[in-house]
Amino acid sequence: MKGIILAGGTGSRLEPLTRVINKHLLPVGRVPMIFYPLRSLVEAGIREIMIVTGGNNAGMFLELLGSGKDFGLDHIDYAYQERPGGIAEALGLANHFVDGDRCVVHLADNFLAGSLRPYVARFEAQERGAMVLLTEVPNPQAYGVADLAPDGALRRIIEKPAEPPSSYAVTGVYMYDEQVWEIIPGLQRSGRGELEITDVNNAYLERGQLAYGILDCEWGDAGESHRSYLAANEVAWRHNLFAEFDRPSPP
Ligand code: G1P
Repeated sequence: MKGIILAGGTGSRLEPLTRVINKHLLPVGRVPMIFYPLRSLVEAGIREIMIVTGGNNAGMFLELLGSGKDFGLDHIDYAYQERPGGIAEALGLANHFVDGDRCVVHLADNFLAGSLRPYVARFEAQERGAMVLLTEVPNPQAYGVADLAPDGALRRIIEKPAEPPSSYAVTGVYMYDEQVWEIIPGLQRSGRGELEITDVNNAYLERGQLAYGILDCEWGDAGESHRSYLAANEVAWRHNLFAEFDRPSPP
């Protein structure tokens, strides 16, 4: 299993915080946002990890994370996205890295207050296909939303619907088998000019191969709006999610 952290995009929804810095380097709690997904993947047993980023700050990720020593890694792979073109386009850059394996894709502005491990284990036991993680939110129209049948079957995912069919948002943690690499090149750009990860997930649904899990822990999305950034910070502080990164202060 490979891990991919997507840390590109313009971060326009957090303007002007993101005018001169990549969103995923902003602090959440006492650490840069990207620490959480990186730690989560490692904790889930994934040791081969690629970070996809772009823009002027790309080199800062290398400076900040290096070979991943602080996370118990001896190596991190990096890919550079020439221009922002959506989550699915960024993911496409990791094809050669994943090299036929399965992967867990984690948006760098998303984090779980609990462990990712049980969900990865479920996906490993799944014969084929993909898996998304859902959680109930008060503002589903800001997210990909699950349309669930009364028996719990996932009918469709709708990206930022004006009238959400449920209050279950699709979080930014996705698990894919090798079919993802044939799905991405067939995608059409959406109204916002992006290759949408929701279209990838719906392609798996059409193949009858999209499983879902419902999160049993709190979720942070630090990048949706200034409010969500604040809420994500509150989640991080409430659960002391950065404790393991604390260093003794110098005398
Ligand atoms: C993306 C996905 C959306 C998902 C969200 C989670 O939204 O497109 O389906 O619910 O991440 O953070 P974006 O941040 O690109 O608007």
